[in-house]
Amino acid sequence: MKSSIPVLVAAAALAACQPVASDPDSAVAATLPTAPAEQVAIWSPRVAGLLAEMTLEEKLGQLNQVAGGRSRNLNSRLTPDELDRVRRGEIGSYLHVAGAAPLGALQQVAVEESRLGIPLLFAMDVVHGYRTIFPVPIAMASSWDTDDLVTASRIAADEASAAGLHWTFAPMIDIARDPRWGRIVEGGGSDPYLGARLAVAQVTGFQGDDLTAGNTIMATAKHFGAYGAPIGGRDYGTADLSERSLHEIYLPPFHAASAAGSGSMMTAFNDIAGVPSTANEHLIDDVLRARWGFDGMIVSDWNAVAELINHGVAETRVQAAALALRAGVDMDMTSAVFANDLAAAIEAEPALMADLDRAVGHVLTAKERLGLFDTPMAYHDADREAAMLTETARAEARRIAARSIVLLQNRDGALPLGAGTGRVAVIGALAEDASTQLGSWRARGTPDTGISLLDGLRDEAPAGVDIRYASGADPRSDDLSGLPEAVAEAMAADHVILVVGEDYDLSGEARSRSDLFMPASQRALASAVLDTGRPVTVVLVSGRPLAIPDIAERADAVLASWMLGVEAGPALADIIYGRVSPAGRLPVSFPRTTGQAPFTYSEYPGGRPADPDLSNDSNRFHDLPITPLYSFGHGLSYAAFEYGELQLDRTAVAPGETARLTLAVTNTGDRAGDEVVQLYMRDPVASVARPRLELRGFARVALEAGETRSVTFALEPAQFAIFQSPGVWRIEAGDIELSVGASSADLRQSARLTITGDGVSDRPATAIATGVEVE
Ligand code: NOJ
Repeated sequence: MKSSIPVLVAAAALAACQPVASDPDSAVAATLPTAPAEQVAIWSPRVAGLLAEMTLEEKLGQLNQVAGGRSRNLNSRLTPDELDRVRRGEIGSYLHVAGAAPLGALQQVAVEESRLGIPLLFAMDVVHGYRTIFPVPIAMASSWDTDDLVTASRIAADEASAAGLHWTFAPMIDIARDPRWGRIVEGGGSDPYLGARLAVAQVTGFQGDDLTAGNTIMATAKHFGAYGAPIGGRDYGTADLSERSLHEIYLPPFHAASAAGSGSMMTAFNDIAGVPSTANEHLIDDVLRARWGFDGMIVSDWNAVAELINHGVAETRVQAAALALRAGVDMDMTSAVFANDLAAAIEAEPALMADLDRAVGHVLTAKERLGLFDTPMAYHDADREAAMLTETARAEARRIAARSIVLLQNRDGALPLGAGTGRVAVIGALAEDASTQLGSWRARGTPDTGISLLDGLRDEAPAGVDIRYASGADPRSDDLSGLPEAVAEAMAADHVILVVGEDYDLSGEARSRSDLFMPASQRALASAVLDTGRPVTVVLVSGRPLAIPDIAERADAVLASWMLGVEAGPALADIIYGRVSPAGRLPVSFPRTTGQAPFTYSEYPGGRPADPDLSNDSNRFHDLPITPLYSFGHGLSYAAFEYGELQLDRTAVAPGETARLTLAVTNTGDRAGDEVVQLYMRDPVASVARPRLELRGFARVALEAGETRSVTFALEPAQFAIFQSPGVWRIEAGDIELSVGASSADLRQSARLTITGDGVSDRPATAIATGVEVE
């Protein structure tokens, strides 16, 4: 299908200049590229032919995405009337639908009974699995292994495509630094470099290398803009941030996803400084399309085109239609504004006809790229659909879940629990809640297919471990009547596994919380159990970092288990009983208290950097230590690791050249384990202040006891570049400090690299992947 792919051509590319350098005399200014002018899409012969033949109504129909029913009543709206709408070409896509047979029948109507035979697009939020539910995204981000994300997305695509789906609204790649925001559970955490790598991995997993294949699906990088930065962490709220933060923190994962060929993007619900992303012509047209060359389809979020009226940038639906279309939105998710009101907008402003053709062209091209014109029934495979949730898929879900668990602390080697530990009390209602383990967005996953933490711990217990259970308290209720029994069980146990936190419904869309402590019943339960003085391992269940200062102070071991999917119990058992050494690392810091959020390890130093000594006035809270409870990148192991000195193959590097940084990592422990080697940078003196630390590379390295391996990172100056204007990143001559360590708070070795000259790069620094070799 290569020949049918549209090409975006920069017409009169040099015609439009924009100011690019603050210092016109600088050498950098002279080398800066100018902005491309408006881009013109050239369609495949098939798409161009269709565009020439379509009526206005048929074009509007292609932009119309309709809900087929929600959740449990999936497909409930696919009534006979609906089939007539498809025959008339009034619908381009359905979301929240599934099933090889019903969707196959619907597709047949579209291709055989509508005038132009244009196939439908079927979409769903297949976020962390379809039937085989993997850990929630924030958990999988904790594995710091892009291969895990590729595998999980590949299996999700395989299952979803068998059920007639062509398109998922994933990955969610919004950077989030405020755990009050409920959707932090859906993404890759707080860091643009890690976020960009995870974005690429998921796009690759969903789409494979052949989008026309019947077992791959189109990805959606979402939510384009700065959805992860709402003020106060309240979902849907304004992101009021600098252009630098937007481009250096929030947009790089989208650039990386675009470069990786994501077939679509979804605009964010919220606005940036008053400009809703669904109507942001600059971001969509100038940045995403012109600068980055994104030629996929852009879909609005649910009802977001109509909500431009609520934002207060449109008075009528007709105005909202014109705004969103002009900005570059191709498909209208559920508001029917394009379907019903765009014609009036075009009548009032005929120039919009060109925008309409562009949008229809993108939708038709997406269908073409999926192979739907040639093999519309490739995605309806009832045999494959019946064979989901295979042993192989479950084994991967278990493996990845175990790799996602983060050991936050482990005093005196409290974990693992070996054979002969004796009586073990599992306490907390979340332990038997298999539904919570599926998290938010569970597609066609069902709790009955999941193995709860309690069942996993019980079924997998080694000889001499006797599991007892008391529910104690449920996070959904204030009922504390189960506490006495829980305390009695704890008192009688040799070891307590206390499972506390949030249930799944406390994180996700519209689930922002003002309080980062656990719900009251969970705090009461934790306190009562910790008061017993018995050895306690806390298994924290949550979709966000929680403030757990008391647990950190009093528990022997703490595991951040997030929500682990269908194989939650066996995966936890693998870690607790020591069959797998934990190697998850935090993709976002855990705060000490709510008021510490938002928090990032990657802050600017300021003129009075935070100082532990309170007698010095500095950038800190007076009533809190300057560090978070657990830092970005933190995670312990049952093994122990030593870092050798850093060897640079050169100490000076010019723009365009590559420097290689090599170090040895040794497992000095007495058992096998993985270490996540993390590479950070700091630009100590630059034309603008730079963050005190920034991640620029990582490698999860498996090491046998006593084994040493060497890790090499390949770095180019463009990876240290500073945002200047969209598509223009300034490489500044000078020194860069490189540090390697086990977390952002545990740097072990450092070295200095000199950039010998100024230069310019067109890519966000963190969108560039650092080459890594492990030998
Ligand atoms: C709204 C959410 O913001 C978005 O992420 C999701 O894909 C759509 N609803 C469709 O379910």
